[in-house]
Amino acid sequence: MGKLVICDHPLIQHKLTFIRDVRTNTKEFREHVDEVATLMAYEITRDIPLETITVQTPVAETQGKVISGRMLGLIPILRAGLGMLEGVLKLLPAAKVGHVGLFRDPETLQPVEYYIKLPTDVQQRELIVIDPMLATGGSAIAAITSLKNRGCTQIKMMNLIAAPEGVAAVQEAHPDVDIYVAALDDHLNDHGYIVPGLGDAGDRLYGTK
Ligand code: PRP
Ligand code: URA
Repeated sequence: MGKLVICDHPLIQHKLTFIRDVRTNTKEFREHVDEVATLMAYEITRDIPLETITVQTPVAETQGKVISGRMLGLIPILRAGLGMLEGVLKLLPAAKVGHVGLFRDPETLQPVEYYIKLPTDVQQRELIVIDPMLATGGSAIAAITSLKNRGCTQIKMMNLIAAPEGVAAVQEAHPDVDIYVAALDDHLNDHGYIVPGLGDAGDRLYGTK
C-alpha cells in the first residue's frame, strides 16, 4: 500500500489555517496556496536519489552530492491544480509539466476528463500529480489511471487537504502511489465536500462561483 505523508511543518500548518478561513480573499488565498505548494515540494522531494561527484573548491578537491535518477514531471489536475503548480516549479524549475483536465459532475460526483496533454517523454519521468483537494478520490484515481494507460509508472500524489475516504480510495485503486498532504480532514459531507476543508478550491482560487 502507498504511504500517506502528512507534511505538518509549522509554516505549512500556519498558512493552511489562513487558506481554510472563509474571510481570506482570492488574492491572499492564491498567495498562501502558492507558498504551501513550495513548502510541500521540499517534503515530497526528500527521497529523490543523489549521486556523488567530485568538484574542485578554491582550496581543495572534494566530493559532493547532486541529484540523479529520473527527471521529474508535474501533472496539475485542471483547474484547481494550477493554483499549486507555480509554487512547486519554484523549487523544481527543470520539471516538465503535463495537464489533465477533469471536473466532478456535481450530480454523480464522477470525474469527467476533458483534456490531457503530456510531455513526450512522460514515461521516463517521476511524476507528481497535483491537486489541492482529494475528496472522494475519483479525480485523482482517474488522472493516475490516465497516466498509467500511457505507460507512466512512477507517480506520487500531492494535495493540500484530503478526506479519509479519498485516501482509502486512491490507496485501493493505486497501491503503488504515495500521497503527500498538508492535512487529513475529518470526513466528506453529502455533497462530496471535505469537512472542515476549505470549500471549493477552484472557486476560491479564481473568484468564481
Ligand atoms: C475539485 C478538486 C479535485 C476534485 C476533488 O475539482 O480540485 O480535482 O474536485 O474531488 P474528488 O476527489 O471527489 O474527485 P473540481 O471538479 O471542482 O474542478 P475544478 O478544479 O475545475 O474547479
Ligand atoms: N473539491 C473541492 O474543491 N472541495 C472539496 O471540498 C471537495 C472537492
